[in-house]
Amino acid sequence: MSTQPRTVVITGGSKGLGAGIVQSFLDSGDRVATCSRSATPLTKEWESDPALADRFLFIEADISDREQSTAFVKAVIDRWGAVDVLVNNAGVARDGILALFSDEDSDTVIDLNLKATIHLTRQVVRSMLTKRSGRIVNISSITGLTGYRGLTVYGATKAALDGFTRGLAREVGSRKITVNSIASGYLKTEMSHGLDGGQLDQIVRRTPAGRLGEPDDIARAVQFLVDDRNDWLTGQVLVIDGGLTC
Ligand SMILES: NC(=O)c1ccc[n+]([C@@H]2O[C@H](COP(=O)([O-])OP(=O)(O)OC[C@H]3O[C@@H](n4cnc5c(N)ncnc54)[C@H](OP(=O)(O)O)[C@@H]3O)[C@@H](O)[C@H]2O)c1
Repeated sequence: MSTQPRTVVITGGSKGLGAGIVQSFLDSGDRVATCSRSATPLTKEWESDPALADRFLFIEADISDREQSTAFVKAVIDRWGAVDVLVNNAGVARDGILALFSDEDSDTVIDLNLKATIHLTRQVVRSMLTKRSGRIVNISSITGLTGYRGLTVYGATKAALDGFTRGLAREVGSRKITVNSIASGYLKTEMSHGLDGGQLDQIVRRTPAGRLGEPDDIARAVQFLVDDRNDWLTGQVLVIDGGLTC
């Protein structure tokens, strides 16, 4: 359990990795606010749990829409004051070779993974600057480091997110705010359903740890990066991929 409950904002916490990160912060006794475009049985379960009445907030919001994103952050600050931890998790992948890729898919990926993340972070970092402390973790991907055929635009947004991490870490470090990325390997979530069985088997064969990742593998690393004591750990991209890219 945390000694003092922190206010934690996690984007895209209704399923997949985001839900695993939400659960991890609920388990550590923190207050958690999350959003997604629609509720899931899991968000409804958390909302109806009396033990979480003062510690869980779910808001239906499409963060690619700036008004909805701003309203989400405002709702959290109105309810709990300042934000201590931000985990930028919401993301989308569209696969297809670039020559045949549509502008629409390209916009969808860039609008959420990059532009929405930047906009929401700007809202939250203002609150952290006033408080002079904070922890930001951006969920990026090994595809931004090594590239992956069919995921050029997605990989480009994740590489850009790592650049955003480093620049922001330099801007806000003196205010005791740390900013790090986790470059995740392939996880067992809906997003990886876009890869076919052959691709997934090949990934597992090439992974020293011999399996795909689970949300918990990443959630534990998020907890480490946001630990109050880790104020000298900033501007880094932590690769967690079962050794695939080592
Ligand atoms: N799965 C992998 O193998 C893998 C590998 C490396 C990195 N990652 C990264 O990990 C993060 C989470 O991925 P995941 O696998 O958990 O994906 P996922 O299962 O598809 O979950 C994505 C989450 O984001 C939400 N979301 C999507 N679009 C949104 C929007 N416009 N506004 C608000 N919320 C939105 C989704 O809910 P709604 O659809 O209801 O909005 C859902 O809660 C992403 O950043 C992804 O790039 C994943």
